[in-house]
Amino acid sequence: MFDERISQALAASLAGAEATIPPRLRAAMASAVWGGGGRLRPKLCLAVAAIGGDPHPALTDAAAVAVELIHCASLVHDDLPCFDDADWRRGQPSIHRAYDEATAVLVGDALIIAAFEVIAEAASVDPARGLRMLRALSRASGHRGGLVAGQAWESEPAPDLARYHQAKTGGLFAAAAALGAISADLDEAHYAALGAELGAAYQIADDLSDALADPDALGKPVGQDAALDRPSALRQLGLEGAKAALCARRDAAMALTPSDPTARPLRALIERAISRLLPPVELAIAG
Ligand code: IPE
Ligand code: IPE
Ligand code: MG
Ligand code: MG
Repeated sequence: MFDERISQALAASLAGAEATIPPRLRAAMASAVWGGGGRLRPKLCLAVAAIGGDPHPALTDAAAVAVELIHCASLVHDDLPCFDDADWRRGQPSIHRAYDEATAVLVGDALIIAAFEVIAEAASVDPARGLRMLRALSRASGHRGGLVAGQAWESEPAPDLARYHQAKTGGLFAAAAALGAISADLDEAHYAALGAELGAAYQIADDLSDALADPDALGKPVGQDAALDRPSALRQLGLEGAKAALCARRDAAMALTPSDPTARPLRALIERAISRLLPPVELAIAG
């Protein structure tokens, strides 16, 4: 659901003034965006907006594109040798492997800036709503408890796991849901809380997958957390504890989801996002 709409909005946001983009950067940006991700954050944004009837679809599209561009940028930077040194992402060579490190740094920079630009452009028809979106997205992405802070916690001794997860993953999920709510005149704080719960569940599932899943199925390397001595839900809570925490956060997200039919896509999204990552965990527990 929403795949076609997200692809079209992403393509439109990256089109235009192509002659001004150095060809290598342009090709690498395309690889980073079209490499086959799950598009979970833009789907969350669209599913929340749908609950409010999505009265401003152009703004919702811009919001969905923006959160996905920030996410794609974060993956390109995360894979760099100075962070996780990962050779694979989404089943393809990571951007610094397919191109080079300088290009990968610039791809991340360019996608982050493009994310804010796409909201700024769409907001010309509704500046107040656009400003609220820009504020929420900046907080989720930046150094004050956002994605930048999340990656930076890895350079600190003994970071708190929940705070680290909230910053590196929960914040962007919260922003995705909050931007959908802003676009559709729903309660921003309520949906930010829902997004944060889903993000927390998703990051715990990702930590478990890092230890238990098949790298070919995931399309990225596994064993990174142990190899790089990163804090992880599995290391801190153990297998059963991490699974219990994951299910509790998923259930909390579900409990914040309205029960009426307009929320059906959101409920399906929450269910699918988590259940996709659970089978290796259940196999490991069964033993
Ligand atoms: C990977 O996110 C990084 C995490 C925060 C767990 P996704 O699993 O959503 O990555 P793609 O976009 O589907 O590749
Ligand atoms: C990535 O976290 C989350 C980002 C903010 C980029 P991880 O390093 O744990 O995720 P993967 O396993 O590389 O996708
Ligand atoms: Mg990382
Ligand atoms: Mg990584």
